[in-house]
Amino acid sequence: MHLLRGLALSLLAGTSLAVPGHNVKKSADKPAKYALKEPPLTTPWTDDVGTNPWPEYPRPQMQRSQWQNLNGIWQYENASSLNDVERPPFGQNLAQEVLVPFCLESGLSGIQGDYNLYSWYSNSFKVPSDWDGQSILLNFEAVDYEATVFVNGKKVGFNRGGYFRFTVDVTEHVKCGQENELLVFVHDPTDSGDYVIPIGKQTLRQSHIFYTPCSGIWKSVWLESAPENHITRLDLDANMHGQGKLFFSRSILNVTVHTTAANTTSNVHVTVHDNGKVVKTHSGPTNQPFQFNVDSPELWSPDSPKLYQVTVKMGKDEIQSYTGFRTISKGEVEGVVRPLLNGEFIFMFGTLDQGFWPDGIYTPPTKEAMVYDLKVLKKLGFNMLRKHIKVENELFYQACDELGLLVIQDMPALRPLQSTTNPSTCVSTTILPDPQQQAEFSRQLELLVNQHKSFPSIATWIIYNEGWGQITSYYPEFGLTAMVKQLDPTRLVDSTTGWFDHGAGDFSDNHHYSDPQCGTPFYSTDSSPFDPTRIGFQGEFGGLGNNVSIEHLWNNQASINTINQTYEIDATLAAWNYRSHILLSELQNQVRLFSCCGGVWTQTTDVEGEVNGLMTYDRRLQRFDEGQWKSDIQGLYNAAAARSNATTSTP
Ligand SMILES: *[C@@H]1O[C@H](CO)[C@@H](O)[C@H](O)[C@H]1NC(C)=O
Ligand SMILES: *[C@@H]1O[C@H](CO)[C@@H](O)[C@H](O)[C@H]1NC(C)=O
Ligand SMILES: *[C@@H]1O[C@H](CO)[C@@H](O)[C@H](O)[C@H]1NC(C)=O
Ligand SMILES: *[C@@H]1O[C@H](CO)[C@@H](O)[C@H](O)[C@H]1NC(C)=O
Ligand SMILES: *[C@@H]1O[C@H](CO)[C@@H](O)[C@H](O)[C@H]1NC(C)=O
Ligand SMILES: *[C@@H]1O[C@H](CO)[C@@H](O)[C@H](O)[C@H]1NC(C)=O
Repeated sequence: MHLLRGLALSLLAGTSLAVPGHNVKKSADKPAKYALKEPPLTTPWTDDVGTNPWPEYPRPQMQRSQWQNLNGIWQYENASSLNDVERPPFGQNLAQEVLVPFCLESGLSGIQGDYNLYSWYSNSFKVPSDWDGQSILLNFEAVDYEATVFVNGKKVGFNRGGYFRFTVDVTEHVKCGQENELLVFVHDPTDSGDYVIPIGKQTLRQSHIFYTPCSGIWKSVWLESAPENHITRLDLDANMHGQGKLFFSRSILNVTVHTTAANTTSNVHVTVHDNGKVVKTHSGPTNQPFQFNVDSPELWSPDSPKLYQVTVKMGKDEIQSYTGFRTISKGEVEGVVRPLLNGEFIFMFGTLDQGFWPDGIYTPPTKEAMVYDLKVLKKLGFNMLRKHIKVENELFYQACDELGLLVIQDMPALRPLQSTTNPSTCVSTTILPDPQQQAEFSRQLELLVNQHKSFPSIATWIIYNEGWGQITSYYPEFGLTAMVKQLDPTRLVDSTTGWFDHGAGDFSDNHHYSDPQCGTPFYSTDSSPFDPTRIGFQGEFGGLGNNVSIEHLWNNQASINTINQTYEIDATLAAWNYRSHILLSELQNQVRLFSCCGGVWTQTTDVEGEVNGLMTYDRRLQRFDEGQWKSDIQGLYNAAAARSNATTSTP
């Protein structure tokens, strides 16, 4: 029956293929026109979005010349159950227009709905005639949480995992030079029922530090053509070989070119360029790692974020990429275990960076808006950010590579240790993953690492945040840490940031509000004592609040009512900056006296009812006294430098 319906509908779609645009739809009812829904708070970029959002090439580390952006106005309709996927509304208008790629909960999507558990999206696209004979690849940078994709009346793909890219090869299902119908069914349970899936801070029941969820398509959707035998993934690691500047001249590029082609021994040609000048060429096999030396490259660091362009050719396929030469490791410096960048102690100091936006929720309104946050951090002297239980689009990581901001990347947390209460019995139970859910968490952690391990700015992976979703009947962080180290031997792993530390990974990471307890012999009883065999780190501290007038607040009464749960409220900006100075001075003392190797200040911006950002949620107010903050941050680096008498000196 399914097959027959598919066939009938592709014929149906076929009859209308000559009609351009959304006219392929059969329904007489036109969808409700797209209009921005006024969100509870806007940003300076809300009105810049228009109907051609995120026009940038979305995959900076694997660029092909022929591509087409599918962002823009699509159609959307709320569905009511999982069974609806069996009845795709082929050839019909859906109820409303929607702006892709903005979460359905966002004002920018034009929907601003809630409980978007089941959704239909539709669009039509024309494949350029000159792509005929090539492979046609349909790319989704992220759809939260499960997506079933139909093209011209046929199911062509399914993906699970709300933060990661997937590609559907639609070559067999599209007609070049003609309109093709695209339908996507999305199921996003978030934390409904007994689902335990990676969601980060999203919740259907917002409360202070848990925010509006994101459902549906929330990163770019695009089409590209590639030769039939093509590259599917490129892993690049440009290390500085050895542990010091003495080994400068032996930097190694480690390359794996994953392809649809059969294994070959020397079919891949790699060229490293520096602003148009060829630095090195090398040939290697497909589908397995190979290495070659590059002589005395300029190393990448936050102070000098030098990048090299990389071209990879295989047969008729050619992609453009880039890399930066640097080595992340750990080692003992003057008797203390330290994180090292290019063989030297680097004091990593950053903010908790959650990446929420009042107008786009998980989707920044524009690239300029996204990069604005990073430039503010850079200006103040932060050399790092902790990307907190969210995965950004690839242009974010590229911006960190270019600006020189190290990234500590969290795995999006499973539903936190939040109790559900059975209304009939009033019994609360804590939800933890069952073995199947745990296996899915592990599979998605693998996706996180494999899809992002070529960004030079990423320095450390975090697996668990404050025990959320962390099974304690056995210690899964040991196995997961081993898995991450095997997938990516080039970075450090902070297995558990905050709470349940059983000794896994490279860090002994304390969370404490407001004052830090970083690598110190004193600690509060909800955290573990500092373990000197690992890197002493302050994974979160600060969180100083300062309430603002209603025009800078997320204007939702339930959220406003939670503002008084902020760890500390300082009545004036002078008080807020005074308290910031005290906390940063405390951290500096812990660097001087104890084993503190870095810290994470909560947080870059306010989010909903949390008013403790360096900036307000709309990015229109900056709370920091710039001069004072710059000098306090520099003070941390100076204190660290005084303890970091380089293990290896310059030749
Ligand atoms: C979608 O439908 C569900 C019921 O199936 C409802 O609870 C929800 O409010 C609807 N959402 C929107 C955005 O219409
Ligand atoms: C090269 O990278 C692969 C995985 O990306 C890794 O398994 C291998 O150990 C690396 N080789 C060298 C010499 O660094
Ligand atoms: C191709 O090479 C990879 C890596 O060496 C190997 O795992 C895989 O089995 C090979 N595939 C074929 C078809 O030989
Ligand atoms: C914060 O300010 C808003 C108005 O801007 C006010 O409604 C709210 O009560 C204040 N909350 C606290 C805890 O000061
Ligand atoms: C915070 O404010 C809410 C609403 O204004 C109030 O119900 C609650 O009691 C307050 N909580 C505290 C700890 O002051
Ligand atoms: C740095 O190393 C030198 C030589 O090893 C030593 O004399 C000096 O005390 C060290 N300085 C610091 C700040 O540890």
